[in-house]
Amino acid sequence: MARPALRYVCQSCGAAYPKWNGRCESCGSWNSLTEEADAAAIPGAKASGRGGRVIALEAVQGTSPTPPRLLTGIAEFDRVCGGGLVPGSALLVGGDPGIGKSTLLLQALSAIAATGKPTVYISGEEGIDQTRLRANRLGLEDSQVKLAAETSLRDILTTLDGANTPAVLVVDSIQTLWADSIEAAPGTVSQVRACAQELIRYAKRRGAALLLIGHVTKDGQIAGPRVVEHMVDAVLYFEGERGHNFRILRAVKNRFGPTDEIGVFEMRETGLAEVANPSALFLGPKEARASGAAVFAGIEGTRPLLVEIQALVAPASYGAPRRAVVGWDSARLAMVLAVLDARADAGISAQDVYLNVAGGLRIGEPAADLAAAGALVSSHLGVVIPPDCVFFGEISLSGTVRAVGQAEGRLKEAQKLGFKRALVPPRVSGPKGLELTPVPSVGALVALMQTFH
Ligand code: TYD
Ligand code: MG
Repeated sequence: MARPALRYVCQSCGAAYPKWNGRCESCGSWNSLTEEADAAAIPGAKASGRGGRVIALEAVQGTSPTPPRLLTGIAEFDRVCGGGLVPGSALLVGGDPGIGKSTLLLQALSAIAATGKPTVYISGEEGIDQTRLRANRLGLEDSQVKLAAETSLRDILTTLDGANTPAVLVVDSIQTLWADSIEAAPGTVSQVRACAQELIRYAKRRGAALLLIGHVTKDGQIAGPRVVEHMVDAVLYFEGERGHNFRILRAVKNRFGPTDEIGVFEMRETGLAEVANPSALFLGPKEARASGAAVFAGIEGTRPLLVEIQALVAPASYGAPRRAVVGWDSARLAMVLAVLDARADAGISAQDVYLNVAGGLRIGEPAADLAAAGALVSSHLGVVIPPDCVFFGEISLSGTVRAVGQAEGRLKEAQKLGFKRALVPPRVSGPKGLELTPVPSVGALVALMQTFH
């Protein structure tokens, strides 16, 4: 028998080449190509144009039942999933090692098991004892979840095929599984793809909700299983900053619900606890607010979220000024600094600038521009922004402040948390009792900040 043809697959993006190369032409990473057997070269894998079954083509119109949902009862988790887990679907949960993925899914699974549904947790990373210990620590010693510590895909599928279909199946993690039909090490693109494919097929056929755990590399991509992202119905990221107890579950893809939805948790001694009112978490104490702190009225998904943005502008001691950003895009900071200097003569660019988003949150919205600019100007001028004041608005290169979406939701949340004043783009209307100050440009912002003491 002929040897199956070899190909070289990039371990970071999954691109395949007939020849080895030092650098992947598709994603640009170095030394990421490894040799793998070509699955397409396996006899019988080729599709031909004749001899297939005729499939029925259906109209888009018509009604299909909305998929039933499995609720974990952990509201933060259910909301991020788009209202609970969908039977027969596959979901990937990614995140850095040690962030709490196993903890979260064990808690969610136990909650479903407590409703009497069969559930299975397969760990390829930890032994039964370790998982049991964790369950004890989480106060789940009476959990009805069925455990297995296994990495062989064949054994897992044989076991699952012979048993009652679980309502929910957790596989921790997809990188540890290996299929004996593939000649590559566990964790490589072809192994991960093959294992995910088989498990997803099983889940779809039997109507189980499949939760896959995946690791994330240093640069924030799900290692290897980038390819898995396309195969699953939903991708959630579990993230948080080291040294902080807050954890954020974020939907980045969801075929059954909105993306950009977040769930906020706090890692405690006894596991992950839901945080129902996250705004309170990301705001420092009002009394102690110093210069350089501005509160941003943000939106995460459908949820308003107030966060404190802190800036420190200090004289540059030597050479090129330093820039350090935590929780915000550094290119965005560079832009806001340049605009402040060019359009409002703020004179900050030549200084060292540090910017931090409180509580370990990461902000991606352009609406944070105005709050960041407010924090920077406040630190530079040494003025304290009144503690009952929030900001939002996008800054354009011309220095004008532009309107952003969901102004009303932002303002309502601010009012709910006791804020009295908002610095906003022009032509924004808000709830009664909240004083709105339109800020048409960065020049107006600097002028306004000079009136603070
Ligand atoms: P884990 O769920 O193992 O993370 P992952 O599966 O993403 O690698 O969580 C590991 C961390 O969580 C560990 O460093 C300890 C901490 N932890 C708690 O603080 N409280 C707890 O109740 C548990 C179970 C873990
Ligand atoms: Mg784990």
